[in-house]
Amino acid sequence: MSKIFARDLDEAGAYKLLTGVVVPRPIAWISTRSRAGISNLAPFSCFTFVSSDPPMIGVNCGLRDGSRKDTARNIAETGEFVVNIVDDGFLEKVHVSAADYSADVSELEVLNLDCAPSDSLAVPRILSCPINLECTLDRIIPFGRAGSEFFVGEVKLFHIRDGLLADGKVDSELLRPLGRLAGPVYGKLGEVIRMK
Ligand SMILES: Cc1cc2nc3c(=O)[nH]c(=O)nc-3n(C[C@H](O)[C@H](O)[C@H](O)COP(=O)(O)O)c2cc1C
Repeated sequence: MSKIFARDLDEAGAYKLLTGVVVPRPIAWISTRSRAGISNLAPFSCFTFVSSDPPMIGVNCGLRDGSRKDTARNIAETGEFVVNIVDDGFLEKVHVSAADYSADVSELEVLNLDCAPSDSLAVPRILSCPINLECTLDRIIPFGRAGSEFFVGEVKLFHIRDGLLADGKVDSELLRPLGRLAGPVYGKLGEVIRMK
């Protein structure tokens, strides 16, 4: 066993360890809209839910060159975002969408994704994704010394593709979710085991 004291790690070393330890992570493909009306899309795998009453999810956004990423800035400025849940068929597009596009470029257009307006927000949702969560910003919580921020959103509306729901639950095998592992490594659903 290796013993690594956190006090001996710099930020990059701790990030490398954590992204390999906390696996697999679900992927939130987040669409937002800037104040100027430009749509944005980027993947975020530091993603979980934090409450079921009301339904709330949380996403951790790091800084880029000391400033908020487009997604974080748009959410902070408009208070709105959509979490698009991808299936394993989106692997390549998800990966490509994380490139550093400038703020005036819409990844939704570059990737030629079929979008529709949200019901309750000004942010577009991706029609080809099996699930879209329309969210409003609840709070932003800063953590640590590297400036990462945890964005908590309340889910106002769940769009779920026909056939995925049984008894109010999403069928994971039909969903075929995509997971993020360490670095540019992803995982698909393996053997599924149902326990009593
Ligand atoms: C699968 C995947 C997951 C990612 N997860 C996160 C994350 O949880 N937090 C984060 O700050 N960046 C994450 N990134 C990096 C962002 O997607 C990347 O910085 C992107 O350029 C941000 O785009 P934006 O400036 O349009 O918001 C991830 C990248 C990939 C490929």
